[in-house]
Amino acid sequence: MPSLQVLKTLWRELTTRERSPRVTEPDLVMDDPDKVAAYTRAGAEGGVMAPVYLFHCAQVCEVVRPGDRVLDLGCGPANQLALVARLNPETRFTGLDLSPEMLERARALAVDKGLSNLDLRQADITDLSAFPDASVDAVMSTMVLHHLPDQAALGRCISEVARVLKPGGGLYLVDFGHLRSEQSIQDFAYQYADRQPELFTLDYLYSLRAAFAKEDFRRLQQAHLKGRARLYSTFLAPYMVALKSAPRRAPEPGLKARLQALAADLPAHHQADLADLRTFFRLGGLSSPLLG
Ligand SMILES: C[S@@+](CC[C@H](N)C(=O)[O-])C[C@H]1O[C@@H](n2cnc3c(N)ncnc32)[C@H](O)[C@@H]1O
Repeated sequence: MPSLQVLKTLWRELTTRERSPRVTEPDLVMDDPDKVAAYTRAGAEGGVMAPVYLFHCAQVCEVVRPGDRVLDLGCGPANQLALVARLNPETRFTGLDLSPEMLERARALAVDKGLSNLDLRQADITDLSAFPDASVDAVMSTMVLHHLPDQAALGRCISEVARVLKPGGGLYLVDFGHLRSEQSIQDFAYQYADRQPELFTLDYLYSLRAAFAKEDFRRLQQAHLKGRARLYSTFLAPYMVALKSAPRRAPEPGLKARLQALAADLPAHHQADLADLRTFFRLGGLSSPLLG
């Protein structure tokens, strides 16, 4: 059951006439060493992002197949990507990021986890010219698109995704969605302030302010991904928005069991966060069958 605070925020979002402006991220590419370290810690196993990573991992697992070649746009320190790669050992993943600091962390993590199905490259996600048309089986991206400077850059990124993806390819692009009221943005950003470093809370605040609106995603989905991906968001307030293709494999009992074991291993407060995220996305039309 969502907390009273969350319900209050949702009510405000539904009733407010405010339209908070989008404020570009102070760090478009994340290369400040302290911020990179705070972000990496928050995403490590047991970190504050564990339930969100598990949710996205279960979504990605539905759209990738063994033997696929998959791009992860803006992989950062690869905490998310490593989890997906570990559960899909017969799928080949390439993580792209512009930040050398992030890529260094990602490489260290891949070595630490012994992942041989993962390689990393410095690249700009708005220019995928290194990849020919229809050359990849699936594309994933988590919590990255709000780093792009403007709608034109977002448009270039989505049109590049449409170009490199094979017909019938898998897609899961998820990011924050822009909230209407600055107070709601602050409520979400400070929700876990007592559990995480201040630098990470501030990073979250800037991310929410920089998020694109659900309507921006809808326009681009219509322009570039019609029939290839559907647009979903969390119910009532689109604080998260996802573009997802149809599932490309039947739920495998082994994979399902591993994901559910990971969920069961989360501490109680993270299990509650995962349950909230699942509920708000399910009510928004996006279920997560691999999580049970
Ligand atoms: C908030 S992190 C997300 C990392 C990872 N996907 C995750 O879910 O933890 C955003 C990442 O996007 C990268 N980034 C921002 N703009 C980019 C661009 N135009 N091309 C490639 N990477 C970019 C940043 O350097 C940063 O590592």
